[in-house]
Amino acid sequence: MKGKFISIEGVDGCGKSTHVKLLARWLRFHGRRVVITDEPTNDTIGRVIKRILRGKLKLPIAAEALLFAADRVQHISDVIEPALKAGKVVLNERYVCSSLAYQSARGLPTNWISSINKCALRPDLGILIDVPAEIAFARIKSSRRLDEFERNLRLQQRVRRNYLRIARREGLKIVNGTRSCNEVQAEIRKLASAVL
Ligand code: TYD
Repeated sequence: MKGKFISIEGVDGCGKSTHVKLLARWLRFHGRRVVITDEPTNDTIGRVIKRILRGKLKLPIAAEALLFAADRVQHISDVIEPALKAGKVVLNERYVCSSLAYQSARGLPTNWISSINKCALRPDLGILIDVPAEIAFARIKSSRRLDEFERNLRLQQRVRRNYLRIARREGLKIVNGTRSCNEVQAEIRKLASAVL
């Protein structure tokens, strides 16, 4: 495939959206065609997931993990693969590592989560913006209404530990997200440049 696939990971409030937007602006300035996208999607399965996140729907955690994996399969075939075939840079907020970090923090075995995500296309680059859960939590608590996962600090702490545990195995590049926005963005640009 001609394009490049970059996924950005991290706990809620780590700064993913900000850095994806800044990276996209910079890449476009340098003549790249960029698609910003995220998971869970706003498509059929993603909308069911968002009802779970808002506390409107309760399902067994394994069903939740299967929904995230199914949403991803549709996302890959409808959005990610077509963009890559057209030579674009795809910046995806959250991907398989979100399932590994969050659904294992919610009690599922990591190996099983890996196995239901086997058919997911491998990104050219995965970046983990690492921020202690307490700091990320403080950032989002004051800024907006939180969903079921976001308001649970213990869960966010487990998620962060899981991310650091899986980073090596999954080849995630860890970026220290507690520094200034400019410093974090500069490192992300450097990592992106290396694969473009
Ligand atoms: P998030 O990126 O925070 O969406 P938004 O910016 O729209 O709030 O993702 C929503 C939540 O979904 C977040 O708490 C992480 C969780 N999540 C999983 O638990 N597993 C997954 O596989 C994905 C993609 C997300």
